Amino acid sequence: MPDRHVLVLAAGQGTRMKSSRPKVLHRLAGSSLVEHVLRAATPLDARSTTLVVGHQANILEHALQPSGINTLRFVRQEPQLGTAHALLQAEPFFTGVTGALVVLSGDAPLIGARTLKRLVETHEASGAAATVLTAVLDRPSGYGRILRHGGQFTRIIEESDASPEQQQVREVNSGIYAFDLAPLFATLHEVPEAGPKNERYLPTVFSLYRRKQLPVETVAAADPNEIRGINSQSELAEVSSIVRQSKNEELMATGVTLEDPATTYIDRDVDVGPDTVIHPGVMLEGRTRIGARCELHAGVRVVNSTVGADVTIRNFCVITDSHISDGAQVGPFAHLRPESSVGKRGRVGNFVELKKATLGEGAKANHLSYVGDATIGPGVNIGAGTITCNYDGAAKHHTTLEADVFIGSGTQLVAPVTVGKGAYVAAGSCITDDVP
Ligand code: UD1
Ligand code: CA
Repeated sequence: MPDRHVLVLAAGQGTRMKSSRPKVLHRLAGSSLVEHVLRAATPLDARSTTLVVGHQANILEHALQPSGINTLRFVRQEPQLGTAHALLQAEPFFTGVTGALVVLSGDAPLIGARTLKRLVETHEASGAAATVLTAVLDRPSGYGRILRHGGQFTRIIEESDASPEQQQVREVNSGIYAFDLAPLFATLHEVPEAGPKNERYLPTVFSLYRRKQLPVETVAAADPNEIRGINSQSELAEVSSIVRQSKNEELMATGVTLEDPATTYIDRDVDVGPDTVIHPGVMLEGRTRIGARCELHAGVRVVNSTVGADVTIRNFCVITDSHISDGAQVGPFAHLRPESSVGKRGRVGNFVELKKATLGEGAKANHLSYVGDATIGPGVNIGAGTITCNYDGAAKHHTTLEADVFIGSGTQLVAPVTVGKGAYVAAGSCITDDVP
């Protein structure tokens, strides 16, 4: 198999977003646009992955360094003078390199791994100088149009240059291509400046190929949504809803009940077990995993957390970087801050905040409590209004409640403090020393 290389164009400012953030770092279902693109390209097993950055290059490089792609390298395009100019900046990487270069757009996040594979395999099998991924859209406006003669691809015309007749063409350029590296860079140098900003457009390379009689193939995306590019906030919202809908469909197909998919926001990497019921307005974000037969009531938000099976989370809880074990019940109105954990059949009731707190099996904090920097043993009962006073103004201190402790309502536990196994603390106590 000939070598494959991947290059992602991500240097543009994204003027139409009207945002100070680099366009390709805007988020969609839990990941940035460019991360979606890089992920789709992973199965190509490319020998190298190059990202062309320019506008706010530092921010982008910083955000993507830890992406885990060990072949990832960056090249700067300054100033940004068009997509052909962007590609030319990577030329030094490719002197003497042969094989296929797959060019992707950092702002087209829905591209699927299977489509990319088909594009490259078709390209390699045909021996074409280049292969363009196209799609037929109901509303083609905003995209370059594919022009054909007798069915054969001839060239791409940008919308701004297209005649009214050419604008009727519904087959569009995805901005995703496979190029044979051999003739590519020499031809890119010949791409003339065009348009009001004197930019050099990558699609012009196909007109030059035609003149040189270099064969260009096309591959059509099976699902036209896959090639959707994001140029504005409104398109970002539209594409987000497409991603959300397909995630919801995927979960429902595996036996998850979504009472109202339209108001359910589940990130792409989230897992949910069968027979779990999700009420309206629930948000499951990041690397969250929810077990089987759970019930998540309206307005619950879970971020980067794991939830076991048979768990009930009542309305309006916020749960971040935490763990909830099988059979536990949480909420309503509970706040689990990072590094908290609720044991099997544990209970965390209304207006209870946990922070770096571990509750053992069957432990309960049912009402109006703050439990922070604490290890709570199995079977402990924390009465209403209990506070771990974990902060003395300078440092944080730990509270330990051993197994089967009973803490009466309105108790203050002044950390560092330990309450021994089976101890009983009466209501309204202020505990400043260890209790055996
Ligand atoms: C581009 C194509 C158009 C295609 C569409 C698909 C050109 C001229 N037009 O239009 O035919 O239908 O994509 O979505 O290529 N970029 C750079 N450096 C630059 C300019 C752009 O790296 O100097 C990057 C952008 O960050 C972006 C990508 O290239 O990720 C595409 O640029 P964009 O300005 O969005 O092109 P479109 O107008 O969408
Ligand atoms: Ca675009």
